[in-house]
Amino acid sequence: MKRLNNGEIWKDTDGNDIHAHGGCIIFHDGYYYWYGEDRRADHYVSCYRSKDLASWEFRNWILGSGSQVKEYRVKTRLSLLNPDGTKVNIERPKVLFNEKTGRFVMWAHFENGKDYKDAQVAIASCDTPDGNFTYHGSFNPYGFMSRDCTLFKDEDGTAYFISAARDNADLHVYRLTDDYMNVDKLVNRLWQGEYREAPAVFKHKNTYYMLSSYCTGWAPNQCKYARADRMDGKWSMLKDIGDETTYDSQAAFVLTPGDRIFYFGDRWGGNGDKYFESSYVVYELAFKDERLEMIFSEYADIGWRENNELRSN
Ligand code: GAL
Repeated sequence: MKRLNNGEIWKDTDGNDIHAHGGCIIFHDGYYYWYGEDRRADHYVSCYRSKDLASWEFRNWILGSGSQVKEYRVKTRLSLLNPDGTKVNIERPKVLFNEKTGRFVMWAHFENGKDYKDAQVAIASCDTPDGNFTYHGSFNPYGFMSRDCTLFKDEDGTAYFISAARDNADLHVYRLTDDYMNVDKLVNRLWQGEYREAPAVFKHKNTYYMLSSYCTGWAPNQCKYARADRMDGKWSMLKDIGDETTYDSQAAFVLTPGDRIFYFGDRWGGNGDKYFESSYVVYELAFKDERLEMIFSEYADIGWRENNELRSN
């Protein structure tokens, strides 16, 4: 099996570049599904799948500028194109499976791609993990700005949307409605004035952990983490993890197969065409005397070990 080197643009099983930045991986019916940004013409979000986290089969562009559009709530902006016909930006797409409705629901950050001033969240859904998602529009949750974001699903099915508000100064935690199609309540406003973005949440032994970066655009900075006993409870102070550039990366999401904890990050290329030089990194996270640590590696230590039992919660 091929080793995935950190800082390289990984290939899918057809030998094509994987376009899945700022995304997430979920486990469903025996497969890992990897969703992420695809900024090439007409595309917004790609989906790949794998049984071992190492070889990725391209499945579909689940969202593109021609996706079917269907309103589900009032006061949303429904278009996936700007009024002048140019593409918008759909960033940091996250997908969760809703047990009650049987639908896969995507939340992502919406910008017009010109001035970064929309700061909205976009929602789409589908009845299969890799089908053509129906777009339901973008909006400001309770009127708040909403930029870098993530989703987290708890063991009891309760889901949370976390996003940067107030021009990135605060990180908001919203509990979602049972069908994951709307915000139900703003349950936390974290680290006000600290300018945290690129949030990534995981749960380990009944404790919640949130990683986030500072706001320096495409340039990497020091990742920090915090912990809490409840998503809607009191969160700890932020503590450094990794080095001052997070080993040249910014968090996309954290995956916890079996008892391992993997940080997936983007090593961004930058603006415009440079964006397409962006690559991927995976660093394992581990606890040392209660403290969470990021273990630097030249390669992504996932999936290619023999007898590596991989599961996902
Ligand atoms: C980063 C953010 C990325 C992208 C970029 C644009 O800070 O995490 O997702 O939005 O800014 O400048």
